[in-house]
Amino acid sequence: MYKIGVIPGDGTGPEVVREALKVLESVSELDNFKYELTYYDFGGDRYLATGEVLPDSAIGEFRKLDAILLGAIGHPDVKPGILEKGILLRTRFELDQYINLRPVKLYPGIETPIKNKGPEEVDFVVVRENTEGLYAGAGGFLRRGTPDEVAIQESINTRKGVERCIRYAFNYTRERNKEKNLTLCGKTNVLTYAFDLWERTFYEVAEEYPDIRTDYAHVDAICMWFVKNPEWFDVIITDNMFGDIITDLGAMIQGGMGIAAGGNINPEGVSMFEPIGGSAPKYTGMNVINPLAAISAVQLMLDHLGEKLAAVRIEKAVIKVTSEKLKSLAAGQMGYSTSEIGDMVAELVREG
Ligand code: IPM
Ligand code: MN
Repeated sequence: MYKIGVIPGDGTGPEVVREALKVLESVSELDNFKYELTYYDFGGDRYLATGEVLPDSAIGEFRKLDAILLGAIGHPDVKPGILEKGILLRTRFELDQYINLRPVKLYPGIETPIKNKGPEEVDFVVVRENTEGLYAGAGGFLRRGTPDEVAIQESINTRKGVERCIRYAFNYTRERNKEKNLTLCGKTNVLTYAFDLWERTFYEVAEEYPDIRTDYAHVDAICMWFVKNPEWFDVIITDNMFGDIITDLGAMIQGGMGIAAGGNINPEGVSMFEPIGGSAPKYTGMNVINPLAAISAVQLMLDHLGEKLAAVRIEKAVIKVTSEKLKSLAAGQMGYSTSEIGDMVAELVREG
């Protein structure tokens, strides 16, 4: 019995989560696993009504779960940063979800903005460090608001934190068993402390993985190659900030935010899965937003929980939908409503 926490969140979050849960129900029947859902109403509305972002007790409850499914966080009436930091980042940090796993896979039938590239070329995974770097919140102001103001934002990179991510990435590359190539993405020519640690650790750990080829690319060059030669990549490991940036670029070349999903993973603890697009407030309640990213988040969740067969079923059904059904991934232009797509995927998984 899997204990799954569900945070539908803001905007279109609840709509896409509803569809994703239809698909979960469908595969659970086929693959004979049971689960129990616990809903949490954290998000903008609750914050506006009560002033509470995430009560301390919630983290304790999260720890008892097997996984969390998150819809979307972000509310037009709440100042940017409050919900993101208070819910998403706090959960990542407190549950020590030190991996942010973001597959960048272009499915057949989906349009990519990059010319002459298709599903064969766009299929790689970014492993982003998820609890350190510039996100650690280290730094401060001096003489704030005066002409002599100083603002410092430091990137924290610990040997332990870097090494555990690098190890995860090597193991992941081995298990993925595609090109068996792991690329370190950094900026060793300028960030000569942080990425010196990353680079040394990377090549030290690499010695334990003689079956995995390694290479290195600067983050700026990676941005260029994602667009020009995405087929060069298999698995990429990078720090928190660079990972944040390159995975938005990755999401675009796989077709956009309507399809991109990710996992905040603590391999030894409780992980959280999410469609990486935002809460799309202007489409709220209209039944026009694409639920495929949320459905793919469930796929990542099941794969993580060890329900590999169920995960494969979901991916197959999603591919069927993208290649044979949808006109577009864009809200309102899909040719189907949000709930119709959920029904369709839930039905297709049964057909196998
Ligand atoms: C992401 C988001 C978050 C991040 C924001 C919402 C804090 O952009 O998951 O990539 O920067 O990590
Ligand atoms: Mn981001």
